Amino acid sequence: MFIELLRERRSIRKFEDRPVEREKLDLLIEAALRAPSSMGRAPWRFVVVTERETIDKLATAKPHGAAFLKGAPLVIAVCADPREADVWVEDASIAALILHLEAHDLGLGSCWVQTRLRDHDEQQTAAEYVAGVLELPAGLTVEAMVGIGYAAESKPGHPESSLPYGKVSYQRHGTQRDVGA
Ligand SMILES: Cc1cc2nc3c(=O)[nH]c(=O)nc-3n(C[C@H](O)[C@H](O)[C@H](O)COP(=O)(O)O)c2cc1C
Repeated sequence: MFIELLRERRSIRKFEDRPVEREKLDLLIEAALRAPSSMGRAPWRFVVVTERETIDKLATAKPHGAAFLKGAPLVIAVCADPREADVWVEDASIAALILHLEAHDLGLGSCWVQTRLRDHDEQQTAAEYVAGVLELPAGLTVEAMVGIGYAAESKPGHPESSLPYGKVSYQRHGTQRDVGA
């Protein structure tokens, strides 16, 4: 059941020094291309990076939260063309999440690196920096990067007792489910 995958899923930031096989990469790409998008506009572009030198550059995209990419054998930059869809952020986010979940299903670990709305330094945004590294044409922007590889850390899924069920209301905000409903 899909819920079992979700129960196990965690963000993984430590990876074995082992490449992701071509077959698994192909499935990751297929999964991303099957992502739903508003009006089927599919405004995303995916840049698949396995070259160490380029990955090392991506790992410095922002001061916090990207450095773990240095140890990842595979990074997929989820880019989009905002001219193709006003809800490109949602579309790209869904595709990035699908990559994260498909990676888990393939026995791989992965973690999202937020790129949109982050700074590289005082001169450049993280998206501008990544666009330079990946030679994105004008008009394309990167929303997120997903670092993927064989996990070198193991994390238990979040226990059900930790889930914030109090954030869920029924019929109207703030109303808890009736006992027995
Ligand atoms: C929109 C979004 C942005 C994130 N950005 C980063 C990031 O830049 N760097 C990072 O290491 N993790 C990032 N994460 C992973 C979260 O830190 C992680 O999902 C959260 O701490 C919960 O942990 P879990 O995924 O293991 O349940 C991001 C996750 C999401 C959904």
